[in-house]
Amino acid sequence: MPDNDIYGKMNRKDDHINHALKYESAYNSFDDIELIHHSIPEYNMEDIDTSVCFAGHKFECPFFINAMTGGSQRGKEINRKLAKVAQECGLLFITGSYSAALKNPDDNSFRIVREENKDLLLGTNIGADKDYKDGIKAIEDLNPLFLQIHVNFMQELIMAEGSRNFSKWQENIKGFTENIKIPLILKEVGFGMSKETVRKGIELGIKTFDISGRGGTSFAYIENARRNNKFSYLDDWGQTTVVSLLSVKEYMDKVEIIASGGIRNPLDIIKSLVLGAKGVGISKAILKLIEENSIEEVIKTLDSWKHECKIIMCALNSKNISDLKNVKYILYGKTKEFTEQRKL
Ligand SMILES: Cc1cc2nc3c(=O)[nH]c(=O)nc-3n(C[C@H](O)[C@H](O)[C@H](O)COP(=O)(O)O)c2cc1C
Repeated sequence: MPDNDIYGKMNRKDDHINHALKYESAYNSFDDIELIHHSIPEYNMEDIDTSVCFAGHKFECPFFINAMTGGSQRGKEINRKLAKVAQECGLLFITGSYSAALKNPDDNSFRIVREENKDLLLGTNIGADKDYKDGIKAIEDLNPLFLQIHVNFMQELIMAEGSRNFSKWQENIKGFTENIKIPLILKEVGFGMSKETVRKGIELGIKTFDISGRGGTSFAYIENARRNNKFSYLDDWGQTTVVSLLSVKEYMDKVEIIASGGIRNPLDIIKSLVLGAKGVGISKAILKLIEENSIEEVIKTLDSWKHECKIIMCALNSKNISDLKNVKYILYGKTKEFTEQRKL
């Protein structure tokens, strides 16, 4: 499609994709965790069950493709490829924010993933700035398993053209929890969640949280890069994924906590599950794979990741995800300091 298509010449989503692909976080909290190895095994590889349950569904694979694109020609092509990979690998796939399609009814960059993959395990995403009626429209259009509501407060503040009005967000979230019939996930976008945030979310009726922490994609970096680095000293804003998971430990049995942010490989996935996550979302690492490889190569890589998760679980004498909660670990560095000072 030419440049002057329905999406217009300059598209914010394309900026996000370009800058996200360029950025490498200097620090990843998963490097601060060491899992304790066992030398005397209990299980055979074929005994290992990697299935997880969250947001009302059972998923055979513990990791999924988290919200990214839609709303531009490039976003549509990425969605098509990712959905194909997800369908072939049996992975859950979540589209980027549906708000682009709400603004532009001709936009089929989201609907196409369902049209082309009837059995796709699909979720979609919308901002907490939106009214629940927009959520209902997204659900009618895509028939997803659940709806993510993203809270991208700091991104909006740093974004030159971002919103400056936030006082309706809590009311909007309550509107979603009271009126939407499918499961909801309250989701950060890479700044992490504190226990205070989770407590507030519970008050508003949220039962599942994606704490999406710092360590991978930084939307502070991305928005700064889009406005000549005006606030680049804020690029490392927020809490890491590991610190966020440790911070919300007391809520792990009361609500469902999902991990995302800076997941690079199957070891980071297993570390997240050891810390109590119910499932693990991956964005940038899979975006990079799909940009640099053929669909067939990405399917091969992610099928191998599924197998590698089993290998690591077997090495930890964990037959299933709930066994992983008993695995011992050691914390180092900044993560250790944070947990000591926050008295977790
Ligand atoms: C290009 C790109 C676009 C994104 N768009 C959205 C979005 O529309 N809605 C959302 O909730 N999160 C969005 N995210 C955030 C991711 O879902 C995730 O929370 C964040 O990138 C941290 O994970 P990562 O380090 O694996 O990338 C986007 C991320 C990327 C890289």
